[in-house]
Amino acid sequence: MSTFTPEDFGFTFLKDGTSVQDLIDQRIKALSASDAKDAFYVADLGEVMRRYLLWVREIPRVTPFYAVKCNESRPIVKTLAALGTGFDCASKYEMHLITSLGVDPSRIIYANTIKQPSHLKYAAAHGIQKMTFDNEAELVKIAQCCENAKLVLRIAVDDKYSMFKMSTKFGAKLETCPALLKRAQELGLDVIGVSFHVGSYCMNPVAYTEAIANAKGIFDLAATIGYKMTFLDIGGGYPGFDIPNVLNFKKFAVEINLALDKYFPVSTGVQIISEPGRFFPSTAYTLAVNIIGKRVDIKKSSDDKDDGAKEKIVNYFVNDGIHSSFRLVIFHDTYVLPSAQKKSKPGECVYPSTIYGQTCDGHDLIVEEYNLPDIQVGKWMIFYHMGAYSITTATNFNGFPKPKTKFVMAPVLWQQLQKISAAKGDQAQLQAICLNADLDADCPVMPGPTRKWRAKGREGK
Ligand SMILES: Cc1ncc(COP(=O)(O)O)c(C=O)c1O
Repeated sequence: MSTFTPEDFGFTFLKDGTSVQDLIDQRIKALSASDAKDAFYVADLGEVMRRYLLWVREIPRVTPFYAVKCNESRPIVKTLAALGTGFDCASKYEMHLITSLGVDPSRIIYANTIKQPSHLKYAAAHGIQKMTFDNEAELVKIAQCCENAKLVLRIAVDDKYSMFKMSTKFGAKLETCPALLKRAQELGLDVIGVSFHVGSYCMNPVAYTEAIANAKGIFDLAATIGYKMTFLDIGGGYPGFDIPNVLNFKKFAVEINLALDKYFPVSTGVQIISEPGRFFPSTAYTLAVNIIGKRVDIKKSSDDKDDGAKEKIVNYFVNDGIHSSFRLVIFHDTYVLPSAQKKSKPGECVYPSTIYGQTCDGHDLIVEEYNLPDIQVGKWMIFYHMGAYSITTATNFNGFPKPKTKFVMAPVLWQQLQKISAAKGDQAQLQAICLNADLDADCPVMPGPTRKWRAKGREGK
């Protein structure tokens, strides 16, 4: 990391005593006089750092290799690079982004099990050796394009606890592993370890225990074939934020630490990494969208009385949607501005409301039948914890531009970032910094995913 100025990171300092929420309020006030009420993000890089320190404090044995696909914005990856994480890259474009930050190739894993030969050659040319595979055809390609690769066998694991499934598309079934390892041996390839992914947005840490036990089985199997494995990659899947009584990162950490100590104790010398994606940027991003349209429908239900009492359904149309920020985002909650006001005041009437996006696609629906107070066109809605798989997957469908992001950081956290960067991964120094950091800082509390989320979990991404 050569450059260390806010300009190079692409953020501006939060002024003393100003919060992200204040900044959003100010921006909305400034926009209220104009017609240009475009949706926008504010992203707090200090939050990424807070998440990193939480990781270091809770799972110190596991080195995070951030999954770039989750949010490849330069200020995010630059911050993580300065903090000293590794990176999980899915393509030569991501590898280029990360190596261009000055990150050493040893801090990169090419963790896409299916790789185009030109991307493999890019990895070989840039000294990126660690890569995953789960099938024989991939082994043949790797032998042709990247003979010095350090291979990691990705196994399929149970993904039933996760909102986004992975194991149908990715991962070798356990029974195919002996043949795959023998084929790798015939091809003269070096297989250094095992990886898995329990599925994204995992709701139950037990998934990791089972998967780590399976990985240990493959280590033992590999030893009988002649590979002494030294590398374990426990994938992604961690929550991007805690949900009271539902999701708690510390519980994931406890479960993972116990499983690692049981199956891969420190004495084995196995290097352990992970590929967290949503864990890092989720809470950093807050999205403000403007209500650009509204239609009130009347729903006549079977228990309507003859006096004509009918249920009102309010449809809001906002200037973002599933073709932009909400393609892969699970709806949790929205807040209506003025921001100090949560979605309804005590005693205020709420109505089942549907929030639609701005495109002409009939499926462009963010959430259905969600209780909201009556809101006027022109007001704003705020969505918290929007940093994962949001802006990165946005398209320009119907010609709409993606929301712009303003990156900020508090000066005190900037100083801390420099200290962490200077520590260069020294665990003792990092733990000392963790002790003094406020890692349980106030963050908007999220209720669980709403029942009416449009797809109730998805296959793959
Ligand atoms: C190979 C791989 N690793 C890591 C991740 C990150 O997962 P998560 O955001 O759930 O942590 C993904 C997500 O798609 C992935 O495909």
